[in-house]
Amino acid sequence: MSTWNDDSFLSLFPEAPPAKVRIDPAQHSPRWLVDGAMRPFTGPAREVRSRVATRTGTTLSATLLGHEAQLTADDAKLAVAAAQRAWNNGEGEWPSAHVETRIAAVERFAAAVEAKTDEIATLLMWEIGKPWASSRDEVTRSVDYIRNTVVELQRLRQHDLSVQLGTAGGKKHFARTHRRALGVVLCVAPFNYPVNEFLTTVIPALLMGNVVIAKTPRFGVLANLVLLEAFRDCFPKGVVSLLPGDGRVVIPAVMSATEQDVAGNPTGVVHVLAFIGSEGAANAIMRAHPTPITLHKILGLGAKNPAVVLPDADLDAAAAAIVKGGLGFNGQRCTAEKIVFVHRSVADAFTAKVAARVDALKAGMPWDEGVGITPLPEETKLETMRALIDDAVSKGATVVNTNGGRGAFSIMRPAVVAGVKPGMRLLHEEQFGPIIPISTFDDAEAVLDWQRRSPFGQQSAVWGKAETARAFVRKFTRFVARVNLNDVCQRGPDSFGFSAADKSGFGTLSLKEALLSFSRPVLVQAQDQSVLDAFLSRPG
Ligand code: G3H
Repeated sequence: MSTWNDDSFLSLFPEAPPAKVRIDPAQHSPRWLVDGAMRPFTGPAREVRSRVATRTGTTLSATLLGHEAQLTADDAKLAVAAAQRAWNNGEGEWPSAHVETRIAAVERFAAAVEAKTDEIATLLMWEIGKPWASSRDEVTRSVDYIRNTVVELQRLRQHDLSVQLGTAGGKKHFARTHRRALGVVLCVAPFNYPVNEFLTTVIPALLMGNVVIAKTPRFGVLANLVLLEAFRDCFPKGVVSLLPGDGRVVIPAVMSATEQDVAGNPTGVVHVLAFIGSEGAANAIMRAHPTPITLHKILGLGAKNPAVVLPDADLDAAAAAIVKGGLGFNGQRCTAEKIVFVHRSVADAFTAKVAARVDALKAGMPWDEGVGITPLPEETKLETMRALIDDAVSKGATVVNTNGGRGAFSIMRPAVVAGVKPGMRLLHEEQFGPIIPISTFDDAEAVLDWQRRSPFGQQSAVWGKAETARAFVRKFTRFVARVNLNDVCQRGPDSFGFSAADKSGFGTLSLKEALLSFSRPVLVQAQDQSVLDAFLSRPG
């Protein structure tokens, strides 16, 4: 393993970071939001340290950014009680507020987030190593997402006001369908998009009248906590709780909470789980719920998105896009291309183009201009990546780019691993990091067979001409939720449904579909339209 370590990478880390990006840890003391109040926390706290390290000579040390409260299960239960009061069986102030009242609150919140764009982006650079431009983009994209979701809600409302006509047994029926909130939502966002994927679940949930308990992600917790004031100031008491701490303590305490129904039977307090992370964690969280049948779920889980390069593909375009898609944010995107299947007739030429592009990527700190390779937040990430590479190399694969896999502390030059075959972990395991595994194929059926047997089904990308690719594309649509034609796998545009097949996820998010995912339809009908009109006031 030590053969991978390269002290020349140490010089990438600064002795002192530039003044404009420095963080004062005293500004990030332990705190949380519960029952409408931002509470300082006097219990145990964890040091939040960044793998964007600082250097003294040849010694690197993880930079102290602040402290995170380690909430207990009893603390988490206070948030549950506050959420129950705010929900009040759908009759609390927030769920029963007129939709325009909710929209106004969310618009105030969007403005408050926008005002803190640079502060949040600076924390993202430190906490997760995301380059400055992408960190800012994560915040601005989230603000746009909020505002565009409001537009969708207004459209949906127009639809609510229209009358549906149906016939049954020769008789006419008139109906209006309204959307109603589901209840208490537990939102758990991932570390790679700790602000964007947090807000793209929390905001549609709130707009539809739900109340939210959010667990901050493992990394990116301070960036989330910057939003505390805005949540406190824009929403009524108990409607949003923000809980830092160890997920293994906080999440089961929330998920296992019960209340009694009219018959005295216990039923789960949490109505919706919105979770983005691993399959194992999702299963463990759902198992803690006392009445799984009452739990709605929206899940974004693992993925091993393949890119397929056919013989007639534009190899330059494919190589450029796959390097971007596979290594954007060091490959830590659920939507990244995580395996490339290239036709044998173009494999050497394509692999050389990919290797050259990866060699041209600049490594450095997230604030460095034009940087593409930055520190990885997880402490054991380099070891995990190198174990995957070692496994493949020991079974006959080759690292084909300069210094691929080499690095120090938290930074690693991406590895382009060619000759990936069955029996190697890189063929089927999600690396979620800076490796581009390349596998050569002769027969398209072998690639389809791989996809058929893959437990994952998020997206795929197909590179080639329409005549060659058509049958391939049609077959891929049976196994994944999105096929990208001569384009990278990705979540956006945000107006497109973001969903997954198999073990890659459940439910759909998008500007519009997230509103549907966090609500249920309720229909009011009569056989006489004037009765319907007379009985219904304007829906709220
Ligand atoms: O990690 C999953 C993200 O939702 C990916 O979003 O494709 O826009 O980077 P993106």
